[in-house]
Amino acid sequence: TTEHMYQYQGFWYHSVVGLQGIMWVEEHFKPRHEDLLLVSAPKSGTTWFKSLMFAIMNRGQYDCSTHPLLTTSPHELVPFSEIFFHLNIPFPNPDTLSPPQIFHTHLPFTSLSQSVLDSQCRIVYVCRNPKDTFVSLFHFLQKKEEENPREPLSFEEAFEQFCKGVSVYGPFWDHVLGYWKASLEWPERVLFLKYEDMKVDSSFHLKRLAEFMGYAFSLEEEKQGLVKEILKLCSFENQSNLRVNKTGRFRVGHMSMENNPFFRKGEVGDWKNHLTAEMAERLDRITGQKLNGYDLRFLDTLDK
Ligand code: A3P
Repeated sequence: TTEHMYQYQGFWYHSVVGLQGIMWVEEHFKPRHEDLLLVSAPKSGTTWFKSLMFAIMNRGQYDCSTHPLLTTSPHELVPFSEIFFHLNIPFPNPDTLSPPQIFHTHLPFTSLSQSVLDSQCRIVYVCRNPKDTFVSLFHFLQKKEEENPREPLSFEEAFEQFCKGVSVYGPFWDHVLGYWKASLEWPERVLFLKYEDMKVDSSFHLKRLAEFMGYAFSLEEEKQGLVKEILKLCSFENQSNLRVNKTGRFRVGHMSMENNPFFRKGEVGDWKNHLTAEMAERLDRITGQKLNGYDLRFLDTLDK
């Protein structure tokens, strides 16, 4: 069921994400100039981008065999704010951490406070085509329900809800558009990236990401193969086969979550194995309507 969802300022939230937490962020979250904010709608590649950004920022500090990403969940290295909300622990106060930090949130652009805009911190937004995002979300919730039993929605019911915009941090399209518009208005502040682009043209987009973050790769580093090394370290193949991500849990405060549900297939176009032709058409139609007038398209297959 969707009884555990509530709506606030046009977006849907899971009840574990307390309204108090969202309001705390709106009122008090003050990143510094050097801090980076990673934002995504759920299942858009958050875990991957946490790894990539952490690896970019901390390169040079670790060699390949001792890298924290081999033994620690990306969610522990770049924790997500919602868990802090849930636990009623204030989102880590930037004042108590030395800059630069990477913060992550799923909150829509409308909930980022004036202080985020005033702080001049940079925002990286990652999005993914809606069909793969929906399929990924459905599987994730199925897994989570096993831990936290509730009457799960059937695939068809969940699809219906997603189409209506009733999904965590949804409507999906409004979430994406909020950041798309922000990236047009403040291109030096907001970088808009796509999961599929990072898959297809990895080196190019990793370098773009690093440059935007203020950690551009030098020619020397490129020659040494650092770009490739980071991509390999953070690849689905590598990350999903690590013991920590197969069987480990990540902790935040006194709560912990399994790492494994964050790694499923890691592909572009898996929706073809799950959505009927009618479902795919319907999502395409909604996407077309919602994005009408914006120069924004999604790649949803790698088939030629
Ligand atoms: P699938 O369910 O399609 O496999 P998020 O991190 O935002 O929760 O998104 C999870 C999705 O990203 C899942 O998609 C997961 O498999 C995929 N993913 C996780 N790590 C990845 C990586 N290193 N590279 C590519 N995709 C990854």
